Amino acid sequence: MSIRKLSSFFVLFIVSAFGIVGAANAPAQDSNRPWMNPILSPEERADLVLKQMTLDEKLALLHGNGMAHSGNWQMPLTSLSNGGAGYVEGVERLGIPPLIISDAAYGVRDSGANGRYSTAMPSNLGASSSWDIDSECHYGEVIGRELREQGFDMTLGGGVDLDRDPRNGRTFEYAGEDPLLAGTLTGNMMKCEQAQHVVGDIKHYVMNDQETGRNIVNAIISRRAMQESDLLAFHIAISIANPGAVMCSYNRVNGDFACENAYALNEVLKKQWGFKGFVLSDWGGTHSTQKASAAGLDQEQPMADFFGPALKAAVNSGQVPLSEIDGHARRVLYAEFVSGVVDNPPQKGKVDVEDGMQVAQRIEEKSIVLLKNSNSVLPIDPARVHSIAIIGAHADVGMISGGGSAQVDPPGGNAIMPPGQGATHWQDHIWFPTSPLKALQAKLPDTKIGFDPGTNLQSAANLARSSDLAIVFASQWESEGMDLPSLSLPGNQDALIEQVAAANPRTVVVLETGTAVTMPWLGSVAGVVEAWFAGSAGHKALANVLVGEVNPSGKLTITFPGSERDLPHPVIPPLPARDRGEGSHAVNAGAHASTYSVTCDEGPEVGYKWFEAQHKQPLFAFGFGLSYTTFAYSGLEVDSAAKTVRFIVKNTGSRAGTEVAEVYARLPQGADEPYKRLVGWKRIELAPGESQTVTVAIDTRPLETFNEANESWNLAPGAYQVMVGPFSDNTPLTASLAIR
Ligand code: BGC
Repeated sequence: MSIRKLSSFFVLFIVSAFGIVGAANAPAQDSNRPWMNPILSPEERADLVLKQMTLDEKLALLHGNGMAHSGNWQMPLTSLSNGGAGYVEGVERLGIPPLIISDAAYGVRDSGANGRYSTAMPSNLGASSSWDIDSECHYGEVIGRELREQGFDMTLGGGVDLDRDPRNGRTFEYAGEDPLLAGTLTGNMMKCEQAQHVVGDIKHYVMNDQETGRNIVNAIISRRAMQESDLLAFHIAISIANPGAVMCSYNRVNGDFACENAYALNEVLKKQWGFKGFVLSDWGGTHSTQKASAAGLDQEQPMADFFGPALKAAVNSGQVPLSEIDGHARRVLYAEFVSGVVDNPPQKGKVDVEDGMQVAQRIEEKSIVLLKNSNSVLPIDPARVHSIAIIGAHADVGMISGGGSAQVDPPGGNAIMPPGQGATHWQDHIWFPTSPLKALQAKLPDTKIGFDPGTNLQSAANLARSSDLAIVFASQWESEGMDLPSLSLPGNQDALIEQVAAANPRTVVVLETGTAVTMPWLGSVAGVVEAWFAGSAGHKALANVLVGEVNPSGKLTITFPGSERDLPHPVIPPLPARDRGEGSHAVNAGAHASTYSVTCDEGPEVGYKWFEAQHKQPLFAFGFGLSYTTFAYSGLEVDSAAKTVRFIVKNTGSRAGTEVAEVYARLPQGADEPYKRLVGWKRIELAPGESQTVTVAIDTRPLETFNEANESWNLAPGAYQVMVGPFSDNTPLTASLAIR
C-alpha cells in the first residue's frame, strides 16, 4: 500500500472511529463516493469516479453547450453558462460540478453586461513589464476570486503566445517575447488563479502569433525552432501552473490544425511534458471527430458538432476506441479535482471592489515604463510647474482598454459614450472612466491644468505654448480578430505630438498602447511614458508616477522597433483573395481548402534575438526602462557548479528606486544560434546610495538546444558567456559559465 493510500486509510479510520464528520473544512467521507476523499491524489480520484460513469456521462464532459453572448452558438443549455463563454455539464449524481466558464484575460469578461462588477487589471503585456512574480500572483488571485464570486469555476485566461509580431492584435493579452519571462510570469499568474478553485487555462496552443487569417493560417516552423521558442514558453508556464486546461488555437501548425495536431497535443504536451489536464478547442476551433480525438483534443468548444453525437457514433462504430473517451474524460475530471472545484463547487459571493482596485493600481505602478526623461522633465515639480496642458486621447474622461474576448466591462460605463448608447460589441473601443486629468489634478491641487482634445493641432499647440509643461496622451487600440496595419499611432497623433513639442520643449508623451509603437517624434519630446492599457486604477497609478510618489521600475518585455521594416516580416503576409471574408469563426468549410501560410523564417529568433542576430538597432530594446534614480553594476562572479551569478547593484542617485537586473547568456562559440538569451532576473529595491549583492540562479532551459532527430534536449558542454546589466542591449558585466 502506498504512503498516500495508507494515510487516506488512516484518515478514514479516524473519521469513522471518532465520528469526526462534517467539520467545515473536512468534506464528509462517504464510502459510496471514495473519490470525494481529498487525501487521495487528483489522478486517483479521477480514476475512481470514472469507473462509475456511463458512456453518456463521459461524453457530456467532452463538449460545450453553446455560448451566452454569441448569436450563432446557442444550445438548450446555453443559459446555464451564467453569461460566460461556455458551459460543460457535470455529473450531479456523482458530485462532479459543471464547468461554468468565463473569459478572464485581464479581468472577468462581461460583468457589467450581466449586472455585476469586475476589476480590470493592467493588460497582460503591461503587467509583464513589472517582471514581478508576486504581482503576477496577485493578478491571478484577484481574477480567480472574482470569477468565483460571479459563479464561475473555470477561466479562459492565461495567454502565453510569444510576441513574434508586435502587430498581432492580441499582443496586449500576452506576456512579451521571451519564453523564460513570459512562461514564468503567466505560469505564476495562473497558478495563483487556479488556487482560487477555478480550473486554470493556458492558451492559445500554439503558434497563434497573428490574428490575420487566424482560422486558416498555417504557421510553418521547424520543430527545433518551435521547441526553443513558443513551445518553451508554454512548457514553462504549464510546469509552474499545472493548469487544469490548455486551449488549442485556431491556426494550423506545419499543416495540421492546432486542435488536431498530434505532434503538438499528444507528443509534446501530453507525452514530453506530462500534462495531465484536458485540451479544449478555441471557440469553433474543432475541425474533426476521429482525427482530433486521436490527436489529443479532449473537449470541443463551445458546441458539440464533432464531439457530440458524432463522437458517440464513432465510438459505437468502433472508429474511436472507448479507451480514448476514458482518456479524455479522465483529464476533465483531473482538472476538476486538481483545481479544487469538486471540493469547493461554485458558489456566488461578493466582489471585493476596493481590494481589486488596490491590487490593480499597485501592479500598474510597477508596470509603467519610463522610456525617455530628458533634463529630468519628470517627475513633475509643483514648485516649478504651475500650469500643465493635458492634450489628446480623451484624457479628460478616461483611458483606453484592449478589446475582443479579453474585454472587461468598465464599471461606470464607456467614458466616451453616453449611457444607454452603443451596446457592447466585442470590438468596441472601450474607455474606462479613469481620467488621468482628474487623478493628476487631485495630486496637484494648486497647479492650473487645462485640456485640449487634440483634434485641432493649432489649438492644442496654443495651450501647450502657454503652459509650463505639456502632456500629450496618445492611444492605440487593439483587439482579437485583427492585426494592426502598422505600429504607427493611429489618426493624427504623430502630427499632434510634433506640433505640441514644437510649441513647448517640455512635452511628455504618455502612451496607452497594447504593443510597441513607432515614434517619429522621439527626438523632439522631453519625456515618454508607456502606461499600456492601464486597467481599473490606471489613472491613479499614472498620476503617482508623474508626480514622483512612485518611482517607475517597469521594463519592456517586447522590443520597440524603429520601423516595421526591421521586423522578420516587414508586412504580415496578406490573405489571398479567396480567403478574405473568412469571418473570424467561419472556420470549417473554407478552412481546409485554404493555403494561406506564414513561414516563420526567423525561427527561434523572436524579438530581441532577431534584432541582435540581424544587427538591427531597435528604438527601445527588450528589457529597457528608466527610473528617477540611477543604478550602477559591478563585481560579477559566476559559480559554474551552482549555476548562479553574483553581482553588486548600487543606487547612485538621490531617490529610492527599484531596479530589474537582467542576466543573459550566450551559447559557446561555434553554436549556430549566436544571440543572447535571458536566463534570469531580479527586482532589487535600493535606498539612495545603497548597494546590494545580488544572487541570481541561471535557468539553463533557454540555453538547451533541441534535437529533432530524437526529440531530445541538450545542454552543450562548453564556456557560455554570461552578461548582466540593465537591459538586453546594455550588459556591462560579462563572465564565463562552464558547463561540463
Ligand atoms: C478566443 C479565445 C476565447 C474564446 C471564448 C475565442 O474567440 O480566441 O481566446 O477564450 O473565444 O470567448
